[in-house]
Amino acid sequence: MITYKISKNGNTTKVFAQDGENIVGCGEILIALDCADIIDIEVRAEYRRRGIGRNILSLLIAATKDSGVETITLEVRKSNAAAQNLYESFGFRPISVRERYYDDKEDAVVMQLKCS
Ligand SMILES: CC(C)(COP(=O)(O)OP(=O)(O)OC[C@H]1O[C@@H](n2cnc3c(N)ncnc32)[C@H](O)[C@@H]1OP(=O)(O)O)[C@@H](O)C(=O)NCCC(=O)NCCS
Repeated sequence: MITYKISKNGNTTKVFAQDGENIVGCGEILIALDCADIIDIEVRAEYRRRGIGRNILSLLIAATKDSGVETITLEVRKSNAAAQNLYESFGFRPISVRERYYDDKEDAVVMQLKCS
């Protein structure tokens, strides 16, 4: 059974998905006044497509409730359809492109969720 742990440290909230003692996924969000940024979400390859990424994202978004957060923003590789699908299913929409954003020069799509 997959369990989820939430760890808050200042403006940062981390979510860990565990299978027993093993961490099989994690995510992190940073809240700064009325804006929040999803820093990362990752699920171990052999645990993907079981809803773990969706649960982590849901818990990260829930962590912004009652914080006055109006928008949640993130960057995702242009080629990363899996992550973009996940984010779109929560209502994130592409708002801009950051060209050559990553070390290997791939563009980043900036996606945003309006919370209010
Ligand atoms: C993106 C990632 C976190 C998704 O985790 P996951 O646990 O597999 O996601 P879920 O099983 O909760 O899937 C939720 C939805 O995401 C989308 N999705 C997930 N994997 C997908 C894939 N390989 N192809 C297309 N859509 C995908 C689907 O819409 C899916 O819903 P569905 O299963 O009902 O079709 C995972 O693929 C991952 O760790 N990727 C590498 C790291 C990464 O790219 N992180 C994002 C950085 S911005």
